[in-house]
Amino acid sequence: MFYYKALWDNNIILLRKKMQIIILDDAQQVAKNAAEWVAELINKKYNPVLGLATGNTPIRLYQQLVNKHQAGQLSFKNTTSFNLDEYLGIDVKNEQSYRYFMSENLFDHVDIDKSKTFLPTCNQGENPRVQGLAYEEKIKQAGGVDLQILGIGANGHIGFNEPTSSLASRTRIKTLSQQTLHDNSRLFKQDEFQPTLAMTMGIATILDARYVLLMATGKKKAQAVKAMITGPLSAMCPASSLQMHENTIVLLDKAAASKLDDQEYYQWAHDQNMMINQKFGLYRNY
Ligand code: PGA
Repeated sequence: MFYYKALWDNNIILLRKKMQIIILDDAQQVAKNAAEWVAELINKKYNPVLGLATGNTPIRLYQQLVNKHQAGQLSFKNTTSFNLDEYLGIDVKNEQSYRYFMSENLFDHVDIDKSKTFLPTCNQGENPRVQGLAYEEKIKQAGGVDLQILGIGANGHIGFNEPTSSLASRTRIKTLSQQTLHDNSRLFKQDEFQPTLAMTMGIATILDARYVLLMATGKKKAQAVKAMITGPLSAMCPASSLQMHENTIVLLDKAAASKLDDQEYYQWAHDQNMMINQKFGLYRNY
């Protein structure tokens, strides 16, 4: 019996060594499903380490997490967090800073210890190379990221790893692409300064996470999603590097999935996974 169960556990591990594509009706379902993954980690592990993202896409997820916290279902007391990126030399009080974004959307509304929330900052006068290495070290000391939340840029970027980023990159300074600057310009007032440089976790840093949870919603992401999932593996689409990751979950709404050829297969594979999970319990190696 034990042997039989172990065999199944192995199968489950094998089944999970891949990119798992889950297509849901809309952005709200994506956020709800993502919140379940985060809640499971936090409730299961004593000292969870979350990788966090900014942007439009994760806002609904953070609302779900805040709701769960306020309903008494989720405590961030023992959680450590590492954000993907931050503008270079930006003041934390600046409303455009990602520290400000995180406080507004999550940190100020839950019981997380803010001294255990980290962003890859590089203030004026600091050396970006030293700061990048220090960030990598801090992640390592915390035990590594258990679950990394990701969005995807319309150009296939993850974090601020723009097309042509090295697949082996680590936390460093990066010049934002024209497309990213254009996509994000909606967030800046007409005469407001828009930073063009940022510190970002590298692609190799992201691939180190035990689990990656990437969310994409809306038609504008459909092309990047297709390139990420069906390849080729290329520095021109940094998200395609996730094909090399053993435990990536991709949560899509129908619009973001619309350019995928194999939508029915993904649905079928997801149903199979759910069936196995129901029968044998979840296997997650946090
Ligand atoms: P968005 O950004 O969620 O604002 O679309 C995603 C990203 O650039 O990673």
